[in-house]
Formats: sequence, C-alpha cells, structure tokens
Amino acid sequence: MSELRTPPGTFDVLPGESWRWESLLTAFARIAAGAGYGLLITPTFEDLSVFSRVGASTDIVRKEMYDFEDKGGRHLALRPEVTASAARAYIQHRPTLPWKAWYAGSNFRYEKAQAGRYREFHQLGIEAFGSPDPDLDVEVVALGVELFEALGITQVDVKINSLGDEVCRPGYRTLLLDYLVAQRDRLCDEHRDRLEENPLRVLDCKRPSCLAVAANAPRQIDHLCDPCREHFARVRDGLDALGVTNRVDTALVRGLDYYTRTTFEYAGTALSSAQNALGGGGRYDGLVTAMGGPPTPAVGFALGMERILMALEAEASLAAAGRAGTGRARGAGSAGGAPALVDVYVVDFAGGTSARNLTARLRAGGIRVDRAFDRRSPKAQFKAADRSGAGLALVLGPDEVASGTVSIKDLTGSGPQRTVPLDGVVGEVRRLIG
Ligand code: HAM
Repeated sequence: MSELRTPPGTFDVLPGESWRWESLLTAFARIAAGAGYGLLITPTFEDLSVFSRVGASTDIVRKEMYDFEDKGGRHLALRPEVTASAARAYIQHRPTLPWKAWYAGSNFRYEKAQAGRYREFHQLGIEAFGSPDPDLDVEVVALGVELFEALGITQVDVKINSLGDEVCRPGYRTLLLDYLVAQRDRLCDEHRDRLEENPLRVLDCKRPSCLAVAANAPRQIDHLCDPCREHFARVRDGLDALGVTNRVDTALVRGLDYYTRTTFEYAGTALSSAQNALGGGGRYDGLVTAMGGPPTPAVGFALGMERILMALEAEASLAAAGRAGTGRARGAGSAGGAPALVDVYVVDFAGGTSARNLTARLRAGGIRVDRAFDRRSPKAQFKAADRSGAGLALVLGPDEVASGTVSIKDLTGSGPQRTVPLDGVVGEVRRLIG
C-alpha cells in the first residue's frame, strides 16, 4: 500500500508549530471581542444554494466549489467562505440588530495548490449586520489593522475602493460593458466569452491581456451617486482620523459578487505579489435580501491565517537579514521556537506511583506539568524533561518517597537543588515559577 499522505492543497499543523496558530487566534479573538463581536460557529458544509448567491459569475462558485450529493440526496457544498453562512445564520435566527460576529475556521476551494494558496485554508473574520453607517466600515477596516499591529506585522498596504450601489452600479455597468465590448478581441479567452455575464470580473482578471484592457477602463469611483460618494468620503475621513494609512485602488473589485460600496484588501508587502492578500472584505448591503431575508446592510472581512503566518515569517526573516547586514546576530528576532508547554517535569525512579500522584496534585494546583511513563531510566527521563522546555524537574527517588519529600532541580542550570516536603511542593513550585 502506498504511504498515506494529506491530499494536495492541504497540510497538517503539528503541536511544535501550532502555537503560532493558537497565538494568532487568541490575538484575533481578543480584538474582536473587545469591539463587541461574539463568536459565531456555523457548519462547514451548507446547502449549495447558500453559496450560489455569492457569485454565480465568480471562479469561487463556478470552478472551485467542493459540492456533493449526500446519502439523503441533498446537494451540499463545503463552504468556500463564511460570509454567506453568516448571512444564512442571520436570516435563520433573526438576532437583534446590530449583530456583530467573529469566526475562525476552514474553507475549501479547489484552486491550483501552491505556496500561500491551499484547497483547505483557514480564515479569521468578522461580520457586522444591521447598519449602513460608514463609521462601521471604518471600524471593520481598522480592526484588521489593529490585529496586524498587535502581531507586529508592519508591511501592510490597505487598499480601498467603492463599487457603488444598486442606484449607480447599473449605469456604470453599461458604461464598462460598452468599453469592454469594443475591446473584446483583446480580452483573455474566458472573458471574451463570458463578458456580458459580469463585466466587473474582467477588472479582477490577472491575465496580462485583461490587465491591459482594464488599465484604461472607466472607473466606478468616477460614477458614484451622491450617497455613495458621501459614504466613501466618510469612510476615508474616518480611516484618516484613526491613523489608518490607506490608498484608493480603483481596480479593487474582489472575487465575490455581493459587494456594494466599500471594498478593501490588506496586502502584505513582504510577500510575493501573487499571494500577498492577507485578507479583504467590504460592504454587502444586498446579500441578505438576495438570500431571501429582510433588507439588512452588512459589512465584514476575512483574513487568511496561512497568509498572516507567512507574512510574520517573511518580515522576521527580512529583519534578520537586515541585522546580519549590520553585523549583528542573525535570527534573534525571527519567528522563534515553540514556547514550553509545561513549567515542571516530574522524574520518578521509585516505580511511577509517586509521579502519578504528584502530577495530579500539581495540576490540581494549577501548575503546568508533564511526566514520563513506562518506568524509563532516570537518564531518559531527564532527557525528556530537557526536551519539554520545563524550567524545573521534580525528582522522586526511593529516598524522597521514604521521607515524603520531593527534590526540585533547576533545569536552566542556574539554581541549586533543594528538597521540600511533599505537602509544601505546590506552594514552593508556584513561588519558583512566579
Ligand atoms: P476572499 O478575498 O475570498 O474574501 O478571502 C479572504 C482571504 O482568505 C484572502 O485575502 C486570503 O488571505 C485568504 N484566502 C482565500 N483563498 C485562499 C486560498 N486558496 N489559500 C489560502 N488563503 C486563501 C472572502 O472570503 C470574503 N468572505 C471576505 C468578506 C467577509 N467579505 C465580507 N465579509
């Protein structure tokens, strides 16, 4: 039998590495909760029709969806994103507005697998339902930036655009279509054939032929109705007031169809440009209605966890390279090794019973502790203690067991070994680890 491996475009995150994911998730949860967003958990698969509204003309829906029929004959899909699921959950449960939710989890897109682009990837996101206020757009954009700052990611380009609304978009669409029809022969094969379906998709096409045509296309931003123009101005003012550096990118149409007014993207400039979108989002005031719910404006973003971790590593290695250039030690500020999971390691060469009981006692006392099993030799146990990263070893030999004591050994090598009565060990360990 051939070796079993992860499918293309998927990967494992092992315990030695998962602490990075854990810290990213914790930082995001803290920031989202601190702004009034509550955790939302929705199914990883939904009825296919939940997603068909987010972009009938997009690659995500047309080509990349993992859809299947289940044993009951339902047509389902693994979610390619969470916004549609959040809108479905809102329509199903009708929570009080404004409804602010954050989420974290897997998404699935059948993309060409490569570094930074996976078939199962992980997003962190927020969605706020129930307010058309441009200040909410500002809050959302700024919360993403707050996360990057908290993580120490400094090389982020915040791009922003307005796609208008149901009042000004149709006129612009006609204008754009007229322009593109006249240039049809210069477009890529796909867009030459599918132009009429959604001309905006041409602006999102990364093929050189379409890029060249898009460069001179009419821009939505020059054709906004007054309310959309005022909305956009207020968003930009708000971002400036909060010190969020941003720039207008009129080519930013995004890969989903539901956006109205504000769209934005965070580009990680330490990453190579093909996969440098750390996240993106925008307003989608029409999605809830399109999915059969009551008119409900909404805005949100999703961030790629893999991309953020890549950006952290890229920035750390750039910084390390800079330090090497100035002759200082390399690697000190790099992404770093895994922090120790435990503070204490119990080493028992008196049979194991004492280790079992002492470990339980320490854990009940709130101390992070691990131990060896299988009655391994003292040498093997001390090796395991070193590998665990614990600062202290608690040693139980026949002498300690006979006298009801424990020996405490400083594994960092800086302190003397001491022996304490078993009854006082929790207090003593707490004092030593601070
Ligand atoms: P999106 O731009 O499709 O937007 O995805 C957001 C982020 O997910 C991307 O910027 C990228 O970091 C990450 N991402 C997307 N596809 C992949 C992939 N194949 N591999 C690795 N990372 C990937 C949305 O999903 C919208 N739901 C955002 C949103 C929320 N808009 C309003 N609310």
